[in-house]
Amino acid sequence: MDERAAVAKEFVGARAEDFPTSPLYRALRPVVAEQPQILDMLGYRRAGQQAPYLFFGAVHHLVLGGAEHPLRDFFASVVGDAARSPEEAGPALIDFCDTYRPELDQLIRTRLVQTNAVRRAVGLRYALAVIAETCDQPVHLVEVGASAGTLLHVDRYRFRIAGRSFGPADAAVTIDSDWRGDSLPEMGVIPTIASRTGIDLHPVDATDPEERAWLRALVWPENSADAGLLDAALAGLAADPPRLIAGDGIDVCPDLGRQLPSGEPRVVFHAATRMHVPPDRRAAFDQAIDSMGERGPLFHVWLEPGHVPHEGDTADDRPVLRFHGPGTGGTQPLVQIAGHGQWLAPVDAELGGEA
Ligand SMILES: C[S@@+](CC[C@H](N)C(=O)[O-])C[C@H]1O[C@@H](n2cnc3c(N)ncnc32)[C@H](O)[C@@H]1O
Repeated sequence: MDERAAVAKEFVGARAEDFPTSPLYRALRPVVAEQPQILDMLGYRRAGQQAPYLFFGAVHHLVLGGAEHPLRDFFASVVGDAARSPEEAGPALIDFCDTYRPELDQLIRTRLVQTNAVRRAVGLRYALAVIAETCDQPVHLVEVGASAGTLLHVDRYRFRIAGRSFGPADAAVTIDSDWRGDSLPEMGVIPTIASRTGIDLHPVDATDPEERAWLRALVWPENSADAGLLDAALAGLAADPPRLIAGDGIDVCPDLGRQLPSGEPRVVFHAATRMHVPPDRRAAFDQAIDSMGERGPLFHVWLEPGHVPHEGDTADDRPVLRFHGPGTGGTQPLVQIAGHGQWLAPVDAELGGEA
């Protein structure tokens, strides 16, 4: 398959759950797949980057940045409830791409898909509660692919789920999520976080307006609540930034594993990151994380699409938070979770492909 066809397949061959909360992007995917010039432009994106997220992020960035073009009338992030029907947006998108080709080209060549989905912290909170069942020591929290690092503040957020709340009552960030099951497992107790470190190819500076604008553009246009969460979480990071290390997790993890205090437990988390690692580098990515268990108990938690399974896992198209740790004997599915954390469900719940 040539590069153009491969990119087109990312837009139309992609799984049905893609963009579940963006009718606009869902409607535009087949339009993009028919545009050779856009597909060719995407051929110059950085290795491993998933083309649809990058492309729509670039378009949204220009629209939010004030591009005067009829396409803006389709973006709820710009015109709110007055947004026009997504089904009619195709011609405007094609014209927009002609008009703003140099700007789009620059963004596509240089930017990374860095979506920092704050609501995903509910999955990390869930995993930390499971870890607390067997680990009564403080843990060192490491996120590989942390973007700006909003998930590293997981213990500072309030979570409301299934009529219950967890986390500090006076938190500046409150995350709502649904529970699609009978009784919600206990999430009240989590380990103390002894240190928090993010690793990213390009750590996002929460105080830089241009960087914040790119993260904002990566939030899908209809998801105004998520945009509000991102703003609040970035303010928290700006006030008290966690340690962020610039580099590839493949190179950084082994060193960081040696630097953490010997014998102390470490939780290594990644979400929507391994999917952007080029396929031929994923085994090295897994090994680098495993190496962090050489000098202390390693709890490894991840939320990645099932179609890019870790070594030894079987492919599973359901969105499942997975885990392995001392004594688990292999990978354990912990809980089903929507891609952006809007809901959780027991692993065995039959959800019938709900978004
Ligand atoms: C889609 S974002 C997800 C951010 C965050 N984990 C979340 O769930 O909100 C993926 C992040 O992983 C980073 N990334 C991709 N490959 C990486 C690698 N090999 N090492 C470190 N960071 C990587 C990207 O720069 C980007 O910031």
